[in-house]
Amino acid sequence: MKILITEFMEDKSVEMLKSNFDITVDTNLSVNHNQLKKIISNFDILIVRNKTQVNKEILENATSLKFIGRLGVGLDNIDIEYCKNNNIHVQPATGMNAESVAEYVINTSLSLLKNVPLMHQETSRGNWPRTSISSRELKGKVFGLMGFGLIAKKVGALAKMFNAQIIAYDPFIDPSIADEFNVKLVDINEIFEKADVISIHLPLTSTTKNLLNYEAFKKMQKQPIIINSSRGSIINEDDLLKAYDEKLISGFGLDVYETEPVPKSFLNNIKDNTNCILTPHVAGVTEESNIRVSDFIANSVREFFKL
Ligand SMILES: NC(=O)c1ccc[n+]([C@@H]2O[C@H](COP(=O)([O-])OP(=O)(O)OC[C@H]3O[C@@H](n4cnc5c(N)ncnc54)[C@H](O)[C@@H]3O)[C@@H](O)[C@H]2O)c1
Repeated sequence: MKILITEFMEDKSVEMLKSNFDITVDTNLSVNHNQLKKIISNFDILIVRNKTQVNKEILENATSLKFIGRLGVGLDNIDIEYCKNNNIHVQPATGMNAESVAEYVINTSLSLLKNVPLMHQETSRGNWPRTSISSRELKGKVFGLMGFGLIAKKVGALAKMFNAQIIAYDPFIDPSIADEFNVKLVDINEIFEKADVISIHLPLTSTTKNLLNYEAFKKMQKQPIIINSSRGSIINEDDLLKAYDEKLISGFGLDVYETEPVPKSFLNNIKDNTNCILTPHVAGVTEESNIRVSDFIANSVREFFKL
């Protein structure tokens, strides 16, 4: 059977698969849609990250495809419905990068509460902003989680170690789960009104798209820090910058964007002295999680084909 890998997978995991499969690795195919469409019919297994758009057009040509391994968790680059209807198994690396994202969120929230981007900018320019820029603690702050799934639970547990108070908005979970984690479930407006830090851990759906828009920012009463490590379009980026300019929020950390790589048109609108941290969709990508994710998908392929 033939495997096509279109994005980075750890060498050791690729080697592990080589004993049972004929493997092609071609990372150019993650962006060369036409070429991928042309050759996909030759493969039984496709392994991707989030760059390769496995849409209906690709899948209609994937006549031998039985398994898609996703080296990560979000499945919004794969037409799940088509796969379900055509008996193609889709396997995300559930949980394998959750710790990395949780650490990213805590790191970013601490840095933004402490105004580190502004402190760094001023100090490295030769200024000495010891009193002109203030710093805050996470201790005692209200940490608002939007979504209380796998990653949010880990973020909540870490934030608790800093003695933050955790509240979460997730109408789809059983309240007993929140009780078990000693987290208060609240409605969305309570997150906006009470949280000092708001971290988003939702899937991108028609309901969550644009959920954090200007109307939402206007409801925020504590000038919170906003962190998005989930999916870009959940925050309206123009409204986010407007909210910062109007001091409705006091900082933002973005790892994901409406368009990736993030376009200059957005970056040009961020003023120099903005308390923000931008990262290139790497919250879940660490040396350790790369190994876990690749191992997990390699093992899933072998298990699926009973090897
Ligand atoms: N930046 C990165 O590198 C990176 C890495 C891993 C995951 N992610 C993203 O992080 C997000 C969370 O991942 P996860 O593994 O915790 O997912 P998860 O499925 O475990 O949790 C998502 C939670 O959101 C809740 N939810 C769904 N729709 C909702 C709505 N409309 N309102 C409120 N709650 C809603 C669900 O009930 C669920 O509990 C996903 O978007 C995923 O793609 C990003």
